[in-house]
Amino acid sequence: MFSTSSKTNLGSNAQTLGEALIEALERPERRISPIWFYDERGSALFEDITQLPSYYLTRTEIKILDDNLEEISRAIGRDRLVIELGSGSSRKTFRLLRALDQPAGYVPVDISAKYLHQAAARLSSKLPSLPVVALVADFTTEFQLPPSLPPHRNRLGFFPGSTVGNLEVAEAQSLLMHCHTILGDEATFLIGVDLDKSPEVLISAYDDPEGVTAEFNRNLLKRINRELGLAIDPSAFAHEARYLTNPARIEMHLVATVDQTLEISGRTYRLAAGESFHTETSHKYTVEDFSRLAEKAGWELSHYWCDTEKRFAVLLLTAAKVK
Ligand code: AVI
Repeated sequence: MFSTSSKTNLGSNAQTLGEALIEALERPERRISPIWFYDERGSALFEDITQLPSYYLTRTEIKILDDNLEEISRAIGRDRLVIELGSGSSRKTFRLLRALDQPAGYVPVDISAKYLHQAAARLSSKLPSLPVVALVADFTTEFQLPPSLPPHRNRLGFFPGSTVGNLEVAEAQSLLMHCHTILGDEATFLIGVDLDKSPEVLISAYDDPEGVTAEFNRNLLKRINRELGLAIDPSAFAHEARYLTNPARIEMHLVATVDQTLEISGRTYRLAAGESFHTETSHKYTVEDFSRLAEKAGWELSHYWCDTEKRFAVLLLTAAKVK
């Protein structure tokens, strides 16, 4: 059985979609957070993306986990309480939990209560003796763990999918620092990180020939229209994936193909043809760069596992001892 923590961390400072759009329109970079992609349709489109031949990230990470489960489990140790950030479908977690030595419990953390409960119920039905405490929270804020947790020796943070890449480097460092605080000095942290590689491979992962990522990107405009009562023409925006360096990243943009005028809350905003909304950044790291970042946040690299082509890495960090 699973329980839900009634104490959510979704505070009053959470921005609405309207506020996020106005903020984006008022700034020269017109940047809007990728969290707004994930309405029901956006979440389904993301699932479709993970099955695309050119989107190697998900299947590569799953293969790394599958190929190294025994070693990963040994490196993690027994009696761990597993806390997963942005648990989504918890697909990778089942593999991990099944392989771990007597896991003490599982705490999936997700902002979407609906997906969280579906995933927690699914996992509980497959691993009925494992205590599951679902936590509705935005893991990018300073969330707190529920006060009553299953007894455990120490904690394992689990953050697969390279979702850490969607945070700015400074934000990723703050998140890792906060995780050190809430997971404790004996904790370990297993994290999936997409590695920097040839721009061709990266661009086709984010601009697939099937057009699913373009649809995922444009779905944001459909959501804006539906939820804010606007009439933006999504077909007047081109999906673009750009590879940039320093730091290495893919940026997704929605580029206006004709001049646009948007009326929102009595204000008029203009977007000239060629200007864009910047809808997502996916940072790409090297193992060395990521472990340096983790070190600044109080973690040491203990082990890492890669695929043969070195496209993706799963890193195991241990909480650094305070000297
Ligand atoms: C969720 N996140 C890790 C994905 C990524 O690769 O940055 C989101 C995504 N955007 C386009 N395709 C997938």
